[in-house]
Amino acid sequence: MVEYGGFVTIAVVPGSFDPMTLGHVDLVSRARTLADEVIVAVAKNSSKTGLLTLDERVKIAEDAVQDIDNVRVGVVPGLLVDFCSANGAEILVKGIRHGGDLDAEIAMSYMNRHLSGIETLFLVADPQYTHIASSLVKDVSRYGGTINDMVTPLAVTLVREAWARQRTPKENGA
Ligand code: PNS
Repeated sequence: MVEYGGFVTIAVVPGSFDPMTLGHVDLVSRARTLADEVIVAVAKNSSKTGLLTLDERVKIAEDAVQDIDNVRVGVVPGLLVDFCSANGAEILVKGIRHGGDLDAEIAMSYMNRHLSGIETLFLVADPQYTHIASSLVKDVSRYGGTINDMVTPLAVTLVREAWARQRTPKENGA
């Protein structure tokens, strides 16, 4: 892998990470080739209904990136741009798998740049991860499919437990 060390000091990789996938982990590790330090920023996306609690999302993210040096996980309590300012972050890094991602991401990047001037750098997803999306992983798990090759073992367990606690009496066969 090419090292671009020193391009920026602190980069933020934001997301709802519900849950963090292996595609996200790859993105974080590639962001680390560009920045001396990467902060994984776990935030709420108000247009999505979450499955995992904030605590679970953070635990999964911390566990998933533990072997990548100079990466830490933070919680975004409000606006992402405020989190970036408070942490001295100079750039946002997001992954793009296809045109649908670009449509959503470009709107957020315009807004974040409008709010604080921060730039967003888009990295094209590695082809081996383009089929992986947190929403699809949750759906596969919900109906008993295997997600072991798309998320970490901790995520497998916590997603499975989350569905078990959410399951309605109807889905339980009652
Ligand atoms: O993984 P996602 O759901 O695509 O990530 C979107 C996220 C969580 C990064 C975005 O919704 C966000 O930044 N939320 C924090 C609140 C905020 O700053 N909203 C304005 C974004 S332009």
